[in-house]
Amino acid sequence: MSSNGLKPFAAIPAPSLDQGGWKANALRFTRDPLPYMDDLLQNYGQVSALVQGGNEGIMFPGQNCPGTVFAYGADLNRQILTQPDIFHSGPIIGPIYGTWQDDPRRAVLRRVGTGLFSLNGEEHQRQRRLIQPAFHRKRIDTYLDTMVQIAEQTVSRWHPGQYLDFQREMFQHTLTIAGRLLFGQDFSASADHLGNIIQRWLELIPLVSIEASPEDTEAFLSLSEQIDDQIRDLISWKRTHSETQTDVLTELIHTRDEGGDSLSEDELIGHINILLTAGHETTANALSWTVFLLSQHPCAMRELYGELQSVCGGSPPTLDQLGRLQVLDRVIKESMRLLPPVTIGSRVTAAAAELGDFEIPVGAEIVFSHYHTHHDQTIYEQPSRYIPDRWLNISPTPYQYLPFSAGAKMCIGSPFALLEIKATLAVMLQRFRFALQEESQIDRFVWVPLRPAHMPFVLCEQDGNFEESKSVVRGNIVEMVEFI
Ligand code: HEM
Repeated sequence: MSSNGLKPFAAIPAPSLDQGGWKANALRFTRDPLPYMDDLLQNYGQVSALVQGGNEGIMFPGQNCPGTVFAYGADLNRQILTQPDIFHSGPIIGPIYGTWQDDPRRAVLRRVGTGLFSLNGEEHQRQRRLIQPAFHRKRIDTYLDTMVQIAEQTVSRWHPGQYLDFQREMFQHTLTIAGRLLFGQDFSASADHLGNIIQRWLELIPLVSIEASPEDTEAFLSLSEQIDDQIRDLISWKRTHSETQTDVLTELIHTRDEGGDSLSEDELIGHINILLTAGHETTANALSWTVFLLSQHPCAMRELYGELQSVCGGSPPTLDQLGRLQVLDRVIKESMRLLPPVTIGSRVTAAAAELGDFEIPVGAEIVFSHYHTHHDQTIYEQPSRYIPDRWLNISPTPYQYLPFSAGAKMCIGSPFALLEIKATLAVMLQRFRFALQEESQIDRFVWVPLRPAHMPFVLCEQDGNFEESKSVVRGNIVEMVEFI
């Protein structure tokens, strides 16, 4: 114990080194973080480390890392998220961002990997201020008609009796919305468009962390170059056609701060790539998980359908109607609590810090967990059960319920995402009943986002027979949700 009453970093409880050294533990964590973190929480408590004796960094580039620390619970979330000058965030592409010192292609990684995520301090505030107007609530509300129109196009391709991989459909659907509203581009048709490239790029991110093969690394670099080229072309096209455009990219090209400063070309490339990547997969995951949970909870689905019928009466929702859909609001809140589309957050200490009872030196990686906080039974009764009506009686703090994180780095796109999720569900659930295929295997795929590997539904006319949508669920989802 030191003079400030804190215990030293080396005293943080942790598993002893396996035969494979710290890397074996790091691989177990990166391949499936949630069970790894469950074990740490059960065996070592609220603050634990990856391994005894420290480890090299696994999430942040170019740091002299003394070790990776796991922090659980609302109090530690608050400690981390209210001190953004100490607990810095980093690029979503992880260590590869900083591992290309001698490679001329490194500049590409810097451009496509640099968005708000990787910025801290005053520079983060400056660029966030420049982007904020494009995500202002009033501005976002004007996107509803386009979101509804695209949801109607999506359901018009479906018919009763059809088998759907709903996850794939939602990826395509949210990408189409992002393409139209962020870029003013139609991403729904061509097989070779920027959206597809970004989708493959996103899938490679977990693979180019600590276990990158040369093939994956090369593929990632090559996709990064294609993204860079395509966004650059798009920006120059927009610069000459922007009078007629109303998308987010057009807004970002013209945005100026009080001093007249605008975003540079490189900054624009980074922001657009990160907005698109951060914006469409998470929303697709939220939609998939919500429809899945509703299919297994007929009472909740019945209550929601009753509300949709009485407020919208079979028509697409207006803004005013969306504001009155209270059951829909609870259904979404509860699904993002139980299966948060972003499961964990990470930070690196830019200065010596304290966390719980421990001293933390500079350069330490800190992992905190939205998922474990949302499953904390001291905050939520029966945390593994899907109970939308619990929201009638609880109002957790921003550090107890944080699907969009909290503080200076809170998701800038949350109003966009929530409008999109509500509009999409209101259109789809009035038209179809989604029945889970018999004995479906529902497995999670987690890196930072939580997505189902597949989501197999049979589409039915919306006949209100919600009991018939239920099925025996298999797969590792049963470790996360208690079905009754
Ligand atoms: C359900 C959908 C979404 C979820 C659950 C979600 C979740 C999050 C979370 C947890 C963070 C904070 C990460 C951290 O603390 O390190 C974040 C940040 C961010 N999100 Fe989202 N997000 C969603 C949709 C969107 C959309 C639609 C956009 C844009 C169109 C977007 C753009 C961003 C950006 C740019 C940041 C970085 C903010 C900053 O560092 O200042 N997100 N998001």
